[in-house]
Amino acid sequence: MHHDLTQLLATHRPGYALERPFYTAADIYEADLEAIWYRDWLFAIPACELEKTGSYVTHTVGAYKVILVRGADGTIRAFHNSCRHRGSIICKAAKGHVPKLVCPYHQWTYELDGSLLWARDMGPDFDPSAHGLKPVHCRELAGLIYICLADEAPDFDTFADLVRPYLAAHDLSDAKVAHESSIIENGNWKLVWENNRECYHCGGNHPALCRTFPDDPAVTGVEDGKTPPHLAAHFDRLEGAGIPARFQIDPSGQYRIARMPLKAGAKSYTMDGGLAVTKRLGRVPFDDAGALMQFHYPTTWNHFLPDHSIVFRMTPVSPTETEVTTKWLVHKDAVEGRDYDLKRLTEVWIATNDEDRRVVEDNQQGINSPAYTPGPYSQFQESGVLQFVDWYCRSLSERLPAPSRMAAE
Ligand code: FES
Ligand SMILES: [Fe+2]
Repeated sequence: MHHDLTQLLATHRPGYALERPFYTAADIYEADLEAIWYRDWLFAIPACELEKTGSYVTHTVGAYKVILVRGADGTIRAFHNSCRHRGSIICKAAKGHVPKLVCPYHQWTYELDGSLLWARDMGPDFDPSAHGLKPVHCRELAGLIYICLADEAPDFDTFADLVRPYLAAHDLSDAKVAHESSIIENGNWKLVWENNRECYHCGGNHPALCRTFPDDPAVTGVEDGKTPPHLAAHFDRLEGAGIPARFQIDPSGQYRIARMPLKAGAKSYTMDGGLAVTKRLGRVPFDDAGALMQFHYPTTWNHFLPDHSIVFRMTPVSPTETEVTTKWLVHKDAVEGRDYDLKRLTEVWIATNDEDRRVVEDNQQGINSPAYTPGPYSQFQESGVLQFVDWYCRSLSERLPAPSRMAAE
């Protein structure tokens, strides 16, 4: 089925959830990939995951397969995972360590900077320099690696310049991955975001998280031109000590950052609210600084705490499947069993992720019914969801070919 996306966007009722095809239809999923996922900057990995020269990870976004690898010069680069001979995938494992990138088919061998080093029996006219791996745009921001699949990447510096001062005190370049989890949520990627952007559901679904995370709409939502006094006092105290904290949102709505307080007395996301790691990652001088919360559509939301950091990456898999990968970062010298207990570090968000998976899957199941009609968002509790849906609809309509490719088909 081909939907008239221009018409669907034009008839979307502001303040209401999207129509069913946005969450179910294969052609709109393809349009999401083309207009958003293949064009925007995407969070890929924390840089510390590639520990040394030759460390690599692979990542799949829609039809694209990407290799991220640390070169001999220490720089992390990204390449399309497709050989310049006859196109074979080069790295098949999720991660590993290699001296060179060697294609398994005919052993064309690439340097870690993507240049073609060796290809057997290609004759005197063959030009190796014209057959290096195709690069993918790749930027490091304070220890976080972002990629962009577009031929011409949109501006990254405005985002990077805004969030770099906030991230500085977290020293993510001194981190290691203490634990990672990848789960598949049987729901459209936009439902994962909609769920993430509100805490209307928290009280009824997140008993562990609610021990420390306030279900205050001002914390999860988007500021409506004014900061409530309790948040302003928190921001002022931290900024007075040189710790960037205040709420900032991109005019286009693609990213937001703020250092939000946790519940009174809570320091970190643990069952008792105490710190999870004694050897801290970063130099945040207050135990009650709260969580530096940063989202960047369409891939990532993050919580940077005084003792550790948690990075989340979302990847669409199909119209009704989304992968959510979570990585817990601790100081590289922190020792499990001495400086932290892995269960204490991870249990709140492992439970929270699973609870979110369940509510997203329930949401998808109900939307799959032809009886579904989009309902209204709460203006008090779901301003963040409205903000996401507005960003999505605006991004899609601005980037649609005119007249809509789908309408023409
Ligand atoms: S396809 Fe890679 S060497 Fe032939
Ligand atoms: Fe949740």
